[in-house]
Amino acid sequence: MDWGMKNRMAQLIQSDGHAMFLPIDHGYFQGPTHRLEEPGKTIEPLMPYADALFVTRGVLRSCVDPANTKPIILRVSGGTSVIGHDLADEGLTTSIEECLRLNVAAVGISVFVGTDYERQTLLNLSKLVDEAERYGIPVMAVTAVGKELEKRDARYLGLCSRIAAELGARVVKTYWCENFEKVVRGCPVPVVMAGGPSTESEREVLDFVHDGMQKGAIGVNLGRNIWQNDHPVAMIKAIRHIIHGNGTAQEAHEMFLEEKNR
Ligand code: 5RP
Repeated sequence: MDWGMKNRMAQLIQSDGHAMFLPIDHGYFQGPTHRLEEPGKTIEPLMPYADALFVTRGVLRSCVDPANTKPIILRVSGGTSVIGHDLADEGLTTSIEECLRLNVAAVGISVFVGTDYERQTLLNLSKLVDEAERYGIPVMAVTAVGKELEKRDARYLGLCSRIAAELGARVVKTYWCENFEKVVRGCPVPVVMAGGPSTESEREVLDFVHDGMQKGAIGVNLGRNIWQNDHPVAMIKAIRHIIHGNGTAQEAHEMFLEEKNR
C-alpha cells in the first residue's frame, strides 16, 4: 500500500482499529429529509464525536467549514430520487479531479445487488476503484437495499459485502443482521454498520451496534438513528462509547440517559 492510501486509511480507521463515521448524505436521493433540512445545523454539534463525515460535494461546499479537520468520505454515486422509477439506477456523480480538489479521505458509492441495476452499479464500483486507487483514495462500498428493508439478512448482506470487497472496496458498509458474524467472516476488508430508518428505541440501536462489534465489525456509518433522535449528541456519545470505549450496550444506554437529561 502506498503512503497516500495508508495515510487516508489511518485517518478513517483510528489507532484502536475502530471507526465512527457520520453519514449525512441522505439528501442526495431523499431531499430535505426529517432533521436534515439544514445540514449545517445537523452536523455542527455532532462533528466533535465523529471520526469522519460521509457527505455529498454540495453539502460539503455549502455547509462544512473547510477549516474543519475531520476527514471527508465523499458520496460519489447518485442520479435517483425517492419519487423516481428505481433507486438502484445509480451512476457516478463526481469526477476523480473533484475528489482531489476537495481533498477527500475516501469516496463512497452504493451497489444494488440482486436488482435490475446490479451489473451497472457493480461496474460503477469497479471503475471508481480503478480511478481512486490511482490516486491513493480508498473506496467505501455501500451495500444498499433501497426500499426493500426486508433484504437485510446474513445471506444477502454476506453476498453483497463479499462482492464489493472482491471488486476492490477498501471498506464495506452494510447493515447489522442476525448471524452478523457470517457477513464479517466472508468479507476480507473492514466492515462498518449502517443504522437504517429510526428504530422504536435507542436501546435497540445500542444493542445491535454492540453485537456487531463483538462479531467483527470495525465500527459504524450510522446516520438517522443519531441525527433524527430527539437527543442526537447524547446518542452519538453513547454509540461512540461502544465503538471506542469498548462499552457495553447497558453502559452506553446509561450514558445516553444521563446526557439527554443534562
Ligand atoms: C444512505 C446511506 C447512508 O450513508 C447509510 O445508509 C447510513 O445511514 P443510516 O444509518 O441512516 O442508514 O448510504 O444514503
